[in-house]
Amino acid sequence: MKKLLFLALLCTALHSAADDAVAGRAKADVACALCHGQNGLASLPNAPNLAGQQAIYVSEQLRNYRSGKRQNEVMNMIAKPLTDTEISQLAAWFSSIRLTVEAP
Ligand code: HEC
Repeated sequence: MKKLLFLALLCTALHSAADDAVAGRAKADVACALCHGQNGLASLPNAPNLAGQQAIYVSEQLRNYRSGKRQNEVMNMIAKPLTDTEISQLAAWFSSIRLTVEAP
C-alpha cells in the first residue's frame, strides 16, 4: 500500500513537472526567445544560454532579478511581473532541454 502511494505521488510529481515545462515553453517562446533563443541557446551575443540549466539555478536568478538582488536593467524589467508559478514553469522548461556536448 505504501509503495502504491509513493508511486502515485511520484507520478503526480513527474506529471506536473512535464506540464510545467510545456507551459514554460509557451511563455519562453513569447517572452524570452528573442534573446535566449527558441531552444535556450542564446540568439544575442550578450545573453547567456539557458538550455539544460538547472531549474533551481534558473528560478533563483529570476527571483533575484525580480527582487533587484541581482541587477541587470533588461532582466530586472522582464522578471518584475513574473509570478512564482511562471518562474517554476520557465525553470522547468529550460532545465528540460537536453544538450549534447562535444569537446573541441
Ligand atoms: C531583451 C533580451 C532578453 C530577454 C527578452 C530575456 N532575457 Fe534573460 N538575460 C538577458 C541578458 C542580457 C542576460 C544577462 C544579464 C546579466 O548580466 O545579469 C540575461 C540573463 C538571464 C538569466 C541569468 C542566466 C545566468 O546564467 O545567470 C536568466 C535565468 C534569464 N535571463 C532568464 C530569462 C527568461 C526566463 C526570460 C523570459 C521570461 C528572459 N530571460 C528574457 C537578456 C534577455
